[in-house]
Amino acid sequence: MRAIQFVTTRLSSCLRPIRFEFVSSSSSPRLFSNTRRLICTAAATKSNGGRSGSIVAPLVNEKEEEEVEKIDVNPPKGTRDFAPEDMRLRNWLFNHFKEVSRLFGYEEVDYPVLETEALFIRKAGEEIRDQLYCFEDRGKRRVALRPELTPSLARLVIQKGKSVSLPLKWFAIGQCWRYERMTRGRRREHYQWNMDIIGVPHVTAEAELISSIVTFFKRIGITSSDVGFKVSSRKVLQEMLRKYGVPENLFGRVCIIIDKIEKIPIDEIKKELGSTGISEDAIEQLLQVLSVKSLDDLEDVLGGAGEAIADLKQLFSLAEKFGYSEWIQFDASVVRGLSYYTGIVFEGFDRKGNLRAICGGGRYDRLLPTYGGDDIPACGFGFGDAVIVELLKEKNLLPELGQEVENIVCALEKDLQGAAATVATALRSKGQTVDLVLESKPLKWVFKRAARINARRLILVGKTEWEDGSVSVKVLSSGEQFQVKLSDLE
Ligand code: HAM
Repeated sequence: MRAIQFVTTRLSSCLRPIRFEFVSSSSSPRLFSNTRRLICTAAATKSNGGRSGSIVAPLVNEKEEEEVEKIDVNPPKGTRDFAPEDMRLRNWLFNHFKEVSRLFGYEEVDYPVLETEALFIRKAGEEIRDQLYCFEDRGKRRVALRPELTPSLARLVIQKGKSVSLPLKWFAIGQCWRYERMTRGRRREHYQWNMDIIGVPHVTAEAELISSIVTFFKRIGITSSDVGFKVSSRKVLQEMLRKYGVPENLFGRVCIIIDKIEKIPIDEIKKELGSTGISEDAIEQLLQVLSVKSLDDLEDVLGGAGEAIADLKQLFSLAEKFGYSEWIQFDASVVRGLSYYTGIVFEGFDRKGNLRAICGGGRYDRLLPTYGGDDIPACGFGFGDAVIVELLKEKNLLPELGQEVENIVCALEKDLQGAAATVATALRSKGQTVDLVLESKPLKWVFKRAARINARRLILVGKTEWEDGSVSVKVLSSGEQFQVKLSDLE
């Protein structure tokens, strides 16, 4: 049952904007002098078995009896807060994303989280369409929280037009929203690292994209015995469909159905394929080809002349040159769930098979024209922040990241707090990080805090030393202690 707290006030009759206040259940009734209102919290939150705090949202009109309702302090289902310890991990991960992108010569871009809904509506019946967080804004425009970054990238490339010279190598890290069924590593909100190459029609681009992901894995301690890439080409399916006279415009829809092979029973797949008009015989042949796991076998089925085989052979040959052959394997069943892919597709997977795809990407040469842009070839990948953390946990590879502040500066007497501020400013101007103790605290407290923030040095500002323009420095790892003039403090 949700606890309702009542607050009565006759002090004011004005209308004021809503304020959110933090009410501590352990406190005695507190008077918020600036709000002119008494909030009786202790009894109400106790009876609710309340935690240490809750947010209350007072009503706007204080003329009436004011009702304060406790709200759930957890973030909405499937979303996350990033408390400092989570933020440290996120920054660590994102810094690797950024550093790898920099190593490969990419430029960073960003787009709004809110886009027009139309950008994400494609006809092929993708799952992502049903997972869209979309609504009408106050101007009666249909908008959506982006479920992925690729359509926004396409929009920006079209907008830039001839003002940019190709090829573009862009990377982005952005939050994406999908109303997804929650499983391990799958959330309703996630961050995606994307690297995309616009304007290169050759497999060299896909080969280099995979190389950048491999570089990332190696940097964080993941090896080719932990993860691999399943690689195929949508041209395999395209060539099969052509062989059976299936109309080109069904291609995207067929890919989406095939992508569900591991998620729904095979009879369902056959039924859905049948509903597109493909003959039973063609469906059987198609499914047989999709179970092929070697390029040689594929060549037996398709013959050696098609583009699919040529592209894949080139990719495997380039993988050798880039030095990541042991990371990739051919798997015809990989088609991916987004309708815009046209050529090579790939997915990063954990070899133990416990997790969903770690990352995925491919070539999408026809996406820009579908938005009215020029026919520019493109490829790229998306790499989520959730599955990789699950994998790092499993492998015991999560880094230990504590807070790191180089100095803690503390005044030994209240009237030296100004002097301590001067010391902190001097250190900060030299690029040193400083946690300044802002209140009078016992030394024991200061030492505890220094340990918690992993401070390297404790700098004490005492009366006698300060009169001489000096401070006391204690190096916390060695216990070494000395006095130094502020001007000489490095
Ligand atoms: P995607 O396969 O839908 O591709 O997503 C890429 C990656 O984002 C996934 O492999 C996974 O790591 C992560 N991801 C997706 N959905 C979720 C979720 N609900 N929770 C947690 N992580 C998730 C795309 O989005 C393409 N736009 C990628 C791309 C870029 N292709 C070319 N360029």
